[in-house]
Amino acid sequence: MSVLPIRIYPDPVLRVQCAPVEEFGADLQCLVMDMIETMHEAPGVGLAAPQVGVELRVAVVDATAGADPDGVRVLVNPRVIDSEGVDTDTEGCLSIPDFTEKVTRPARVRVAAADLEGSPFEMEAGELEARVIQHELDHLDGVLFVDRLRGLRRQRAKSFLRRLRAEEPAAASGGC
Ligand code: NI
Repeated sequence: MSVLPIRIYPDPVLRVQCAPVEEFGADLQCLVMDMIETMHEAPGVGLAAPQVGVELRVAVVDATAGADPDGVRVLVNPRVIDSEGVDTDTEGCLSIPDFTEKVTRPARVRVAAADLEGSPFEMEAGELEARVIQHELDHLDGVLFVDRLRGLRRQRAKSFLRRLRAEEPAAASGGC
């Protein structure tokens, strides 16, 4: 396993509409193991494949941030099939360092996905885990949490991103 470089805004890979996984094998397992290690090392509570430069619909989530080995969720080709409630809480993103803002999202979600072997499953999530899952699924469509802000929060994000674009860090290439 290895820790992969995390792509930072405005890296264009963060705006890609990622492709569904069609091959379930050793390459996918290797990618997911590396993504879990990268997420824990950061440390973060979620990571999507485009954040390590891979344009596939794969996300890992761990709302316990490594505290509980059973807390890791691997989501391949995930989609939200039901949601309820509304919740507003603070979010950040490993690809937008040093910026957090309050985001409003559904409070609970039901997700359909495949596991590493390609077997379909469904899961329900609430609280932080629901928020992280929705944040990571957005990444698979090239959507960042700052895109979900409105009003003054959006203005604050825009001026922060303008400064980040001005810095324009060199994009490192990831690999498995
Ligand atoms: Ni993110």
